[in-house]
Amino acid sequence: MIQAKIAEILESDQFLQEFHINGWVRSFRSNRFIALNDGSTIKNLQCVIDFENTDEEILKRITVGAAICVKGTLVESKGSQQRVEIEVSEIKILGDANPEEVKLTILSPKKHSLEKLREQAHLRVRTNTFSAVMRVRSKLSFAVHKYFQEKNFHYVNTPIITGSDAEGAGEMFQVSSLDMKDPPRNEDGSINYKEDFFGKETNLTVSGQLEAETYAMGLGQVYTFGPTFRAENSNTSRHLAEFWMIEPEVAFCDLDGNMDLAEEFIKYVLKYILKHCKDDLEFLNERQINEDKLKPKNERSDMSLLEKLNFVLENNFQRVSYTEAIEILKNSKPNKKKKFNYIIEEWGADLQSEHERYLVEKHFKCPVILFDYPAKIKAFYMRLNEDKKTVRAMDILFPGIGEIVGGSQREERLDVLKEKMKELNIPEDELWWYLDTRKFGTCVHSGFGLGFERLVQFTTGMGNIRDVIPFPRTPQNAEF
Ligand code: 4AD
Ligand code: MG
Repeated sequence: MIQAKIAEILESDQFLQEFHINGWVRSFRSNRFIALNDGSTIKNLQCVIDFENTDEEILKRITVGAAICVKGTLVESKGSQQRVEIEVSEIKILGDANPEEVKLTILSPKKHSLEKLREQAHLRVRTNTFSAVMRVRSKLSFAVHKYFQEKNFHYVNTPIITGSDAEGAGEMFQVSSLDMKDPPRNEDGSINYKEDFFGKETNLTVSGQLEAETYAMGLGQVYTFGPTFRAENSNTSRHLAEFWMIEPEVAFCDLDGNMDLAEEFIKYVLKYILKHCKDDLEFLNERQINEDKLKPKNERSDMSLLEKLNFVLENNFQRVSYTEAIEILKNSKPNKKKKFNYIIEEWGADLQSEHERYLVEKHFKCPVILFDYPAKIKAFYMRLNEDKKTVRAMDILFPGIGEIVGGSQREERLDVLKEKMKELNIPEDELWWYLDTRKFGTCVHSGFGLGFERLVQFTTGMGNIRDVIPFPRTPQNAEF
């Protein structure tokens, strides 16, 4: 790989040694300078060829997008753009790229909009922006595992096909082996799922939490990191139908411990990325500054990407109860000019994204952990507080992203949990296995879910969640 090879040569000072590099041509100018990239780094490797001694047929085939193998030695570059370059002794064309056809794709060397790139999601990883985002995404995944493994958490793989709706929001993709054009029916006309593959109605998981809870009750502290699916029809820049979630679950841990864990975890992975993705982050930082210049003044961010990442690392997340937040929102002035309306009607309402943005970006000006939400707007499994009105829930809100984490201390008392399920019409016989955890050695326990793509969005400064996952799944869109 280009990056590793150059580092090795620079370190060992073996400049005269000949070596091979494979890659794709990013540009070829003056019949002499090839910018080569193999995906290992944002920095193209300049390969200088001796065109007088290179076969004309080969020269013609060095076109943008072609795969080539270059043999040569590394030398200090005479140009100011790069420190080193390759003096080429031999070139092989491994795979041609017809210039006429390349012209019709996003591989053609001009600026393409992000929307255009999405239409060719199979090629966009060859662009600077996407290769940088995907390298950061890969390193972030590694950092997630590194953090939890170092803290002695166990990695648990929860099922993708399940019979339960963990969030109770009914936003599930059904999984069925039945012929839905003519499904078997019960006497009353309803579909007979007994004849389905699993003998019952099943769906793609919306969260691995309930299964993770059962594992925390044996392994102590666990985490999941896998795909989750939501059939919510939200065409926004923060929602995907298929996204990756990280869900730690910890026995003998209350909500305060849960908040500490989430904050420490997020800071750890951001710190890791700042250390290990320097070149890519510098590129993305520059990219964001340039994008910002195109926006109207009042929409520009007051911090660059790198400043934002460092700011999150250096500052404590503000912990605020829902009730305090509502007071702040009620006392805020509506700002018609900026098309914001911060007024919230009353205690008990769910916060809209404009409220969250106000709290994070205007009021506290830092990440916020909101806790103790009204029970009515949260899921059935959250622990009821003594006031009987609020639950031990927490959401972490990030600038530019909104909710990045949702979590809670869980209801560990069997009778209270059963009561709540009854109230919400959740049949006990569907979750008998979940209720068992409260029968056999129940204990205080907590966990949260972090949306991995929202974390990648924050880390890379990408405005749209569709641009931080290789093949986004959104309403009316599953082309690739
Ligand atoms: O707040 P949510 O729905 O919480 C749960 O699923 C809990 N069971 C998690 C837990 O306690 N173990 O989702 C958690 C996070 C959100 O904060 C958000 O970051 C992300 O998952 N998320 C989405 N990301 C992308 N697209 C969507 N449609 C998302 N829905 C949630
Ligand atoms: Mg949530």
